Order: sequence, then structure tokens, then C-alpha cells
Amino acid sequence: MDFEHKLAAQQKRIEVAIKHQVPSPETRPSNLHSAMRYSMDAGGKRLRPILLLAAFELSPSTIDPVPAAIAIECIHTYSLIHDDLPSIDNSDLRRGKPSCHNQFNESTALLAGDALLTYAFEHLSNSYISTPEVAVNLIQILASASGSLHLIGGQMEDIEGENKNLSIEDLDFINENKTAALITAAICMGATLNGSYKKFSFEYQNMGKSLGLAFQIIDDVLDIVSDSKTLGKDVGQDSKNEKNTIPQKLGVNKAKELARKYTENAANLSKLLSKSEESSFLTQLIYNMEKRIH
Ligand code: IPE
Ligand code: IPE
Ligand code: MG
Ligand code: MG
Ligand code: MG
Repeated sequence: MDFEHKLAAQQKRIEVAIKHQVPSPETRPSNLHSAMRYSMDAGGKRLRPILLLAAFELSPSTIDPVPAAIAIECIHTYSLIHDDLPSIDNSDLRRGKPSCHNQFNESTALLAGDALLTYAFEHLSNSYISTPEVAVNLIQILASASGSLHLIGGQMEDIEGENKNLSIEDLDFINENKTAALITAAICMGATLNGSYKKFSFEYQNMGKSLGLAFQIIDDVLDIVSDSKTLGKDVGQDSKNEKNTIPQKLGVNKAKELARKYTENAANLSKLLSKSEESSFLTQLIYNMEKRIH
């Protein structure tokens, strides 16, 4: 199967699994579950779950990676719901639709985010209960990436940095934590599920960090150069919120060069781990993420 077909097939696999593995909108309280499913079903590229599946595929295994892929998409979607709230980025559009607090209301969006965060860990513990060591390792990786030292810590400094003149080191800290940590977790969870993580933890972590840094730089570039129809979210959000970003500091071209460098580092590590395969799906996905237009 060529890359584009496989990417579409993996996206479909995730969409179908969300329908089966996340509580239905009819579940009481219906407004809460409707809001959770509204944001989960709204679309999105599903890159974190697909990255998890791509890393998983590098080694043979009989375990089912899909529940872990759904858990990480729950965390990512919750982080977007909260990121869009008026008290954080105040964004009206997400995944081509009104953001959760606009479609429902602020308190429902807050609670839908809380519930998706908690559900991710309930789903992991239920799904991998027959392989307790795998379950604990997955929970540890995802909890650490989502916590105050990583995703939330990055979001905190991102907000605190508004209207200030941050250094490149500060921006690297923010991007490493608010974004690269979860992307790294996706790869490391895939490798945990196939049993290769212990041996190659350094390579997997390094790959995720580089890929995640490239990812946020490109997100920040798109916020400057794209349009809201293509992106499915409002553009110019970073300058509106007086955020410091890499392209805003170095210019769009230098920022793209940096993203190129990080992508190449991630791809080289992926090639190293892909062994026999000349161009694994993971390596192709890494290059594809750099070229994305939304
Ligand atoms: C957006 O992530 C938030 C960032 C970390 C930049 P994505 O660009 O992966 O968003 P979706 O999931 O496709 O909506
Ligand atoms: C988001 O960064 C990082 C998260 C942890 C959600 P941004 O604030 O740039 O993401 P978008 O542009 O709103 O998707
Ligand atoms: Mg933000
Ligand atoms: Mg935002
Ligand atoms: Mg952004």
C-alpha cells in the first residue's frame, strides 16, 4: 500500500475505534458526553495515534495497540479544548468547527476536557489489564508527558510568556513540553507495546523530541502564513495573544530551516530503527508531517 492510502486507512481505523471506545453522546449526562464526542469526532489529523501505530509496527507483536492510540488522542483533544478556552488562547475555531466552549459553553468544555483526561487512563488500565507491566509502562509514559513537568508546564510558560520577550531557550522549553512531550509519548508508547522501548529508549525519545520541535515550529509558521479555511482554526492567533514563537523571533524562512533540521534528525533515527525497511511508514510519516499545510 502506498503512503497516502495507508495514512487514510490508519485515520479511518482511529475514527472507527473512537466511535466504539469513547462513551456515546447519549450516555448520561448527555451534554457532557456530547461535548467529549463533539471534539473527538470533529476531525483532526490523528497524528499522535497514527505515530503510535507506526512506531508499534517496527517490531512484530500480538498485542492490540489501538486502545493506547485512542487514549493518547483523548489527551491531545482535551489539551486542545482547554487550550482554546477564553482564559488560555481564546480561540473560536477548532478542527473546522466552533471550539468546544463555543458549541456548548465554557463550563461544559472545561468538564469535557477533564473527563477526556481521566478517561484516557481508565481506558489504558481496562484495555491492558491482562498485561499489567505493559499497562503500567503505558500509563507512566502518558501521565508523565501530560503532567506539570511537560504538557501542562509548557502551557503554563506559554501563557506566562505572553507580552514578554522570551529567549530561544525559553521557546525551546515551551515547545519541548507543551508539544514535543506528547509526540514523544506516542512513539514511546508504540515501542512499549512491541517490547522494543527498553533497548532503544534513547533513540525513541530523541526522535520524538526532534519531531515535536519541528511540529510546533510548523504550527507557528502556519499561524502566520496560512488561512483559517485551510487550517480549520483561526490564524494570527499567536500575534493576537502576543505570543513569542520561533518564526516570530527568527522569521519564517529561518524557522522552516530549523524545522527541516529537526525533521532530518527524527527521520535518521527512524531509519536506524526501521532496520530492513528502506523507507518505513514511520519515516515517511515524519517527512509528511513537515510538509503538512494544516
Ligand atoms: C495542534 O495539534 C496543537 C499543537 C500541538 C500544535 P494538531 O495539529 O495535531 O491538531 P489536530 O489534532 O490535527 O486537530
Ligand atoms: C498548543 O499550542 C499546544 C497544546 C498543548 C494544546 P498552540 O496553542 O499553538 O496550538 P493551536 O495552534 O491552538 O492548535
Ligand atoms: Mg496555546
Ligand atoms: Mg492555541
Ligand atoms: Mg498554534
